[in-house]
Amino acid sequence: MSNVVVIGAGYVGLVTAAFLAELGHCVTCVERHEGRLETLKSGGIPIHEPGLQPIVEKAVADGLLAFSDDMDAVYGADVVYLAVGTPPREDGSTDLSQIDDAAAQVAARIAPTGVVVIKSTVPVGTGDRVQAVLEAANPNEPTAAVVSNPEFLREGTAVYDARFPDRVVIGANEPWAGDIVEALYAGLRTRVVRTTRRSSELIKYTANAFLATRISFANTIAQLCDTKGAVVDDVMLGAGLDKRVGTSFFVPGLGFGGSCFPKDVASLIHEGRESGIGMDLLESVVSVNDQLPRAFVRRMEEELGSLRGRTIGVLGLAFKGDTDDVRESRALLLIEALVARGATVRAYDPEATKNARRELDGIDVTFCRSALSAATDADAVVVATDWQDFARIDPHRLASRMRGDIVFDGRNLLDADALASAGLDYVGVGRPTVRTDATFRRVA
Ligand code: UDX
Repeated sequence: MSNVVVIGAGYVGLVTAAFLAELGHCVTCVERHEGRLETLKSGGIPIHEPGLQPIVEKAVADGLLAFSDDMDAVYGADVVYLAVGTPPREDGSTDLSQIDDAAAQVAARIAPTGVVVIKSTVPVGTGDRVQAVLEAANPNEPTAAVVSNPEFLREGTAVYDARFPDRVVIGANEPWAGDIVEALYAGLRTRVVRTTRRSSELIKYTANAFLATRISFANTIAQLCDTKGAVVDDVMLGAGLDKRVGTSFFVPGLGFGGSCFPKDVASLIHEGRESGIGMDLLESVVSVNDQLPRAFVRRMEEELGSLRGRTIGVLGLAFKGDTDDVRESRALLLIEALVARGATVRAYDPEATKNARRELDGIDVTFCRSALSAATDADAVVVATDWQDFARIDPHRLASRMRGDIVFDGRNLLDADALASAGLDYVGVGRPTVRTDATFRRVA
């Protein structure tokens, strides 16, 4: 059992802290945001992450997890995790001010035998930068070592991903420090990849940039399917079953959002350009992704004519299902585009309404309490987030609430035949449009 401090109780830090406690370590999670800390101390969870609450509750009850705003927790820690925010700047570079700030505070307190683990996603070389801070604070003495241990947790399935990772990557320039981090995960049955610190930092970007590339690739093929009369689900399955290709992260729609893919691809492009490397491939990944919400709105106009004065029910605000996170959410971009064209938007999300309301401040949107309420009197309904709840909506009840009779599926989530049985037309992405009455013209 080790004494661990995790700095930052966001999506990454909180899951990491809870999971390390589950593995039997004694963890203090340091959070400086007052509101978030209060919620945690009073037994609440400030984010929506399925399965996290019981782990936190048990760990706290067992005395293995505590929350604090006091950096002095670092005294006596064997390992300190940095899980603070690394937001993007306008030019795609990464704002490392929270890392620098945490590093300086840790440097003043950590023992020379300690290890600082960087969990936050950081550009290559950040580990060296933090190591330099530690050494500058403790000149002429042995110093703690910095290890890169990127997280690959997906929001919404973070608990599962923590328990059953595909691999654990540990980047250490000093083997003893890597050994300490590896020992923390001794309970896990998974492959451990030991690398240098810089390689480890680059692994995280490589994985995310490749997954983002797959999504933009799938979206490009979906556009071809639309023009050639092919079915994207079948095409991606048929191609993906080749083991060299693989089937996951091939679902087209409104594109990728969230706190990682857009930021990490932008950062890699920025880093590549700085190093004089042509980053055309990843620039294309971004430009394909960026045009998807607008292209989808144009597709809606083809069916509905002008959107001015139309009521559109939007299902989903989060950047993906099973989270309340709206960062870089395509659903919000879609709503902005609909409102800009004069549509009246009624929106619903099971968890993300509070965050979306803040993000869409000043934009005229009616936030509803249920999917059926969002669909009420709507000329069309759009699925913007892949919440499984939306796939379970009874099409007959949906149809009975709507004024119009068309559903746009921006996540290829729904069953077109089930909708057709309720008299609803279906427009997906790279899927055949299903019309229940070909003679009916909706265009004004
Ligand atoms: C991602 C990585 O998967 C994870 O390993 C990393 O640690 C953090 O970033 P996350 O951002 O939580 O996780 O969500 P993810 O499930 O990867 O989805 C990212 C975006 O891509 C979402 O907007 C999602 O809707 C979209 N997506 C995903 C698609 O459009 N199609 C797909 O096939 C898969």
